[in-house]
Amino acid sequence: MKLPGSVLVCTALLVTVCAEKSVKFSDEPFICPEGQGNGNFADPATCKRFYQCVDSFPYLNRCPSGLHFDDISKFCTFKNEARCGPIPVTPAPITETPIDIALKCDTANCELPYCFCSRDGTIIPGGIQREETPQMIVMTFDGAVNHNNFDHYQKIFAKDRVNPNNCPIKGTFFISHEYCNYNMVQGLAHDGHEIGVETISLQKGLEDKGYEEWVGEMIGMREILKYFSNVTSSEMVGMRAPYLKPGRNTQYKVIEDFGFIYDSSIGISPSKIPIWPYTLDYKIPHECKAGTCPTKTFPGVWELPLNAHYVESYEGGHCPYLDQCVLHNHDADDVLEWLQEDFSRYYDQNRAPYMMPFHTNWFQIKELEQGLHKFVDWALSLPDVYFVTGTQVLNWMTDPTPLKNLNTFDAWGCKKRDNVPEPMCNNANKCALDFKPAEANFTTTRYLETCRECPNKYPWLGDAEGTGLFNDNYNPERK
Ligand SMILES: *[C@@H]1O[C@H](CO)[C@@H](O)[C@H](O)[C@H]1NC(C)=O
Ligand SMILES: *[C@@H]1O[C@H](CO)[C@@H](O)[C@H](O)[C@H]1NC(C)=O
Repeated sequence: MKLPGSVLVCTALLVTVCAEKSVKFSDEPFICPEGQGNGNFADPATCKRFYQCVDSFPYLNRCPSGLHFDDISKFCTFKNEARCGPIPVTPAPITETPIDIALKCDTANCELPYCFCSRDGTIIPGGIQREETPQMIVMTFDGAVNHNNFDHYQKIFAKDRVNPNNCPIKGTFFISHEYCNYNMVQGLAHDGHEIGVETISLQKGLEDKGYEEWVGEMIGMREILKYFSNVTSSEMVGMRAPYLKPGRNTQYKVIEDFGFIYDSSIGISPSKIPIWPYTLDYKIPHECKAGTCPTKTFPGVWELPLNAHYVESYEGGHCPYLDQCVLHNHDADDVLEWLQEDFSRYYDQNRAPYMMPFHTNWFQIKELEQGLHKFVDWALSLPDVYFVTGTQVLNWMTDPTPLKNLNTFDAWGCKKRDNVPEPMCNNANKCALDFKPAEANFTTTRYLETCRECPNKYPWLGDAEGTGLFNDNYNPERK
């Protein structure tokens, strides 16, 4: 067996004294210490980094800038307080790790509202017939909300656009931090749209990072939204991984530990019949396109997958995000027709929710935006189409209700919800803040708009409120 940068030599079996030989093989890969289970371990090469071992796989983590890893308390702290490792330990008794690799869907043991799966993922929940199933459309908008896109988003959700139950149509926003205007987010939340979480930094390669990094990105983002947009934490229950790269089991563990209800990051290759959302009690009922899907079971955690968009002729290619299909040389009517054909694969077959994921780009091309407006108006002329949020999809799936009873289906009603923030404020603070990106040796300025008072520094990983102290510590909500 190859050993990591420093070697632990242990003298007895259980109650053991380990002595460290300072042998450095700095280019050798880190190997998680045997018998010590999951947890954080000092990087022998530098005090600024540590490894997080999950099922013997080491994920490299970096302390926020300026901080060092304390190998006794196992977290990042100020340099002069950090006890750098590796510090020899007494191994805990060996415990068996449970075998919990997900198995194929077992419908006999999977019952709503807690569990939902079907053999190939295409079955309508609750035994409801297609004609009795509302066609849900979920428009999602990823990234920062700001002056580049806010007015365009507002136009989509024009007040006179209502679902068949006469309630205004709604959408879901998966927010990332940089360049985000938190006054605008507050306005969207006030209007009843769903606020979900992407990440703070949109860093690449997050799918291979550890638990601490995912907590920092996801929970940090939720804290920023709570603080600067006054959105209640318990209302932010949906998550989307940047670049649709789910974080293997790690990300889903964070979802489970911190009270999220669903993820919507898993892309699906073009399939003839679209897949319905499912819980992760069982194996994912389709191929994992990104290659980084969870493999364990996460009972009760929902996945709203992204079915590929495409048309029969493959004109425009296929895409999870609509702006990634190539429709740029089309006029608005072509775009409408393309969307109609794509949509009919859902509407005419199994009525799986039609997810329409967008980035800002879509709204920078007139023909695409106009085509979308035509599509929304056309879809709303159908008697059984509802534009809802990700959470509202789950409200329906956990209580499958036939079309004829939807007028009294509370979760889709117009009653103003508790827990929504105040409207946008007219006198929002426009804060110009110092920002030093991690690992950079320069400071730059970022702007942030909020109804709150301006923070000291630009909020970032480890410092959601922008205090400048980088001492955030997020604790799991044990259910
Ligand atoms: C946040 O929203 C709540 C409920 O609408 C309100 O009572 C409170 O004053 C708001 N806080 C801030 C800082 O705006
Ligand atoms: C730090 O800044 C200097 C000057 O701005 C630059 O030349 C240098 O490459 C930077 N170093 C790092 C590690 O980024």
